[in-house]
Amino acid sequence: MMRIHIFKACLLVVSSAVMLPSIAATPLTADINAGKTLANQGGGTTAPCMTCHGVNGEGMAVSNFPRLAGSSQYYLRKQLEDFRSAKRQQPLMQPMAAGLNDQQILDVSAYYASLPSTNLPEPTAVDPKAYAAGEQLAERGDIERQLVACANCHGPQGIGLPPAIPALIGQSSGYIAAQLNAWQQGQRKNDDGGLMAEVASNLTAEDIAAVAAYYSAVRQNEAKP
Ligand code: HEC
Ligand code: HEC
Repeated sequence: MMRIHIFKACLLVVSSAVMLPSIAATPLTADINAGKTLANQGGGTTAPCMTCHGVNGEGMAVSNFPRLAGSSQYYLRKQLEDFRSAKRQQPLMQPMAAGLNDQQILDVSAYYASLPSTNLPEPTAVDPKAYAAGEQLAERGDIERQLVACANCHGPQGIGLPPAIPALIGQSSGYIAAQLNAWQQGQRKNDDGGLMAEVASNLTAEDIAAVAAYYSAVRQNEAKP
């Protein structure tokens, strides 16, 4: 059953990606420099993004503020629109997005998408057992429990599958766990087709801690912790 659902879900992701040209056809053109100014200085009622998301969009692990560098313009824009319309809810980020117009959302999404995605923050130390369990679930899934590998959608080591599927590599374990818990509890529900809600509903607390540890610490071509 799960596999069939996930298959349908993958089709949905693909079809939403195919619809991209209609978004690109809107009259607005992204201005990366204006996006950079907004990120560094803020505008109107919106605080500078860098105060929470870091000078280079690297995020702030201690506060669970996510990394933005490394995500696609499409994904960033979708999240900002979802926060603005309250489809995605979070008390700190919603007021920030509420102060942005369509042009500003486009500009700042283009700016963060233009930053190098290979510039990963230093990983924090994680429990090697949790890392190993997380690697197993993330890269290979669990056939007995009919859990698909996260890598099927998020790519090997969570490098992401642009435009619709975000990178997980380099996000903090606190942020990843918070998002999975939010889906499980029905607080985050802005994913097209309920893909992540279904994935999260099948995870135990141990699974969540394990995949969060893995994605926060995995680095390509580097030794395991
Ligand atoms: C006061 C702190 C704060 C400021 C300032 C702020 N953000 Fe955020 N942002 C957050 C938090 C916290 C989250 C995580 C929300 C959650 O847990 O769902 C977030 C999430 C996001 C996300 C979703 C990332 C993802 O991987 O899903 C995007 C995109 C984003 N912010 C963009 C921006 C931009 C662009 C600005 C500036 C215009 C900005 N933020 C300013 C706190 C902030
Ligand atoms: C069927 C495809 C699919 C599978 C399998 C999948 N994901 Fe996702 N995931 C998505 C999509 C699509 C999104 C973006 C949702 C949105 O647009 O808000 C996402 C978003 C996320 C996010 C939020 C990232 C952010 O920056 O806010 C996390 C965390 C996440 N997934 C973790 C996982 C983990 C862990 C697994 C494996 C246990 C997994 N996903 C398996 C499709 C999938």
